[in-house]
Formats: sequence, structure tokens, C-alpha cells
Amino acid sequence: MIFSLTEFPLRNKTVLVRVDYNVPLKNNKVTDNTKIKASLLTLRYLLQKECQIVLATHLGRPQGKVVSKLTTTPLIKELKKLLPKKTKITKLSDCVGEKIKKRITKGKSKEIFMLENLRFHKEEKANSSAFAYSLASLADFYINDAFAVSHRQHASVDAITKFIPAAQGFLLRKEINHLSKVLKPKKPLVWIIGGIKKDKLTTIKQLAKKADHILIGSGFVNLIKKSTKKIILPLDLNQEKDIGPKTITLFQSHLKKAKTIVWNGPLGQFEKPPFAVGSKKIARFISRLKATTIIGGGETSEMIHQFKLAHKMTWVSTGGGASLSFLTGKKLSAIKALEKNYKKFKKKIT
Ligand code: 3PG
Repeated sequence: MIFSLTEFPLRNKTVLVRVDYNVPLKNNKVTDNTKIKASLLTLRYLLQKECQIVLATHLGRPQGKVVSKLTTTPLIKELKKLLPKKTKITKLSDCVGEKIKKRITKGKSKEIFMLENLRFHKEEKANSSAFAYSLASLADFYINDAFAVSHRQHASVDAITKFIPAAQGFLLRKEINHLSKVLKPKKPLVWIIGGIKKDKLTTIKQLAKKADHILIGSGFVNLIKKSTKKIILPLDLNQEKDIGPKTITLFQSHLKKAKTIVWNGPLGQFEKPPFAVGSKKIARFISRLKATTIIGGGETSEMIHQFKLAHKMTWVSTGGGASLSFLTGKKLSAIKALEKNYKKFKKKIT
């Protein structure tokens, strides 16, 4: 069991919301705001309850150092566009410390505070209890709405749950509900795996146990030995940067029989139009099928939005590594942490 935020007496309280606003930036501007939009359901609910909201996120991988181009400042502009005009959003210069705590104490109801990048502190990644305690001391309640980082044992999604009542946000709940359906999928189940992250190789082996076919079309294709009949490799590539026409036809022949399709990782360098052809054709093809279609991963979600096909898919997950981990059947560490928190605080809340 885990707490839902609707169970908490939230009116006029200060709530720390861990979001995943790890979004792409170009010249200090957010180029894809899907993750920010996805957090609005929870934020609007908290605003209705007249809460003060403390937003905590990581951005990029600054390795425990202050990296100015990874400040959370550009996120505010994007969030402002999406919330009612009068919403006050205040940027704080750090995420922990007495100065930050004092400023939040002086805040008004419905004020939103944006903390500085959590990963500027090495303690975040180290899952430090002391750092997590400092974060927890900023609020009355904690909400995890950061599905995309819930596979990481980091202080802001794990250790923090030791200190204050912690609930799942609406986005986290939706992600779990939709992805859980794939754990017992309607068969045939076909996976499409692309992208360049080599750590997917081990996952592919695990996925092969449940999937009927795994269509591979990515940068690490050379590293994959066709160890099982289930793994379908490309027949042709366009300059190693996209799948070619024969592969598109081959993939479509498997996809049209599927009842469940899960896609993680673009099939080519879609950000360059000449190499977006394969991904676009496959995306359009599956958007017309009756199968359940689940899209996972930051880049894949960005791509589907760019093709304007997100509304035609059953679910577009905000998580890349997190959704892969979840779909291999692992319980995410941050979800385990929320379960422990429920046991610890249930008497106080109910
Ligand atoms: C993501 O974009 O997948 C999440 O924000 C996690 O980021 P990370 O892989 O740097 O932990």
C-alpha cells in the first residue's frame, strides 16, 4: 500500500513535490515541455487546496557540482506559461539550508518555490539521509510525482521518505496503472527497441522472456547477437542513422499481428529529418492499429509528440530507464520507499 495525496489533510500546508523536470534545453529554453505538462494535474490539485508548493527536480547529470547551464531557472518560464497567470513562482538559489528554509516559511498559500537542481549536491545521488532530512524539513508532506527517476536510489525519491508522510502524485499513479497492464499483456507482445543507451542490452535479454518479438533498430545493433528467434534485427540501414525500407516492411509485418506494442528508443536520428523516416513510418503504422501501444522514454516521447501522434497511443510514459525497469518486472526502489513510508505513517494519517 502507498498513500494517495487525496488522503492527506493538505489545506494550507507546505508540500514538497519531487517532479522530474529533466527536460531538453537549447539556449536556456525548454524544447520539450511534456514532463512539465505531465505534472500539472498534481500541481493544480495542490493549488486548489491552497498549499505552498516546493518543487524539487534534477536536471541533467552535473555530478554533484554547480553547473550554470543546468540551473532550474529556465523551467520557471515554461511552468508559468502552463499555470494561471496570477500564480507566484519564486526561484530559490539552492535546495537546502537555513536561508532556503526561512524563505519558504515566509511564503504565502498558493506560492510555488522552485528549488535549485538537486544534483548540484553529490548527496542527492549518494542517497544521503542528512541531505534528505534537510529537504524533508522544508515541508509538511512529500509527494513523489517523478516516475522517470523512481528507479534511482537517490535522496529526493528514497531517503526522504523516512522523515515525513509521503504520497504518490497523480502522474506517478497513472504511470503505474498504465504500465502495470503490460506486465500481463495481451499477446502477441512486440517490443521496439531503439536509441543508443548500451545499458539496454541486459534489459533486452530479460524482455525476451516475455515478448513474442523484439524489433531492434538502433545504434547498438552491431552489439546484439541474434541469440533467439524472437530478436529481429534490421535488414537495411540508411547510413547507419535510420532503418531502411526493407526493415520498415519487416517490422510492420510483425507489428500488425501484435495485441500489445511497447516502444522504447527512436529507430534513427529522428532529430535530423532525413533520418526520421523509419521512426515516423513505424509510428504512423502503429497509431492505426487496434493494439495497446505504450511509448516509453524521454526521447521517444519527444519524438512521438514531434510527429503529433501522442494522442493516438494508449500511453506515453515520461520514464525511459524507469519504464524499462518497471516493465522487466522490477519494483522500483522509490515505490518500495513509499510502501515503507505508508507502514510508518499510516496511524498518524488515517
Ligand atoms: C530520465 O530522463 O530518464 C530521468 O530524468 C532520469 O535521468 P537519469 O538517467 O540522469 O537518472
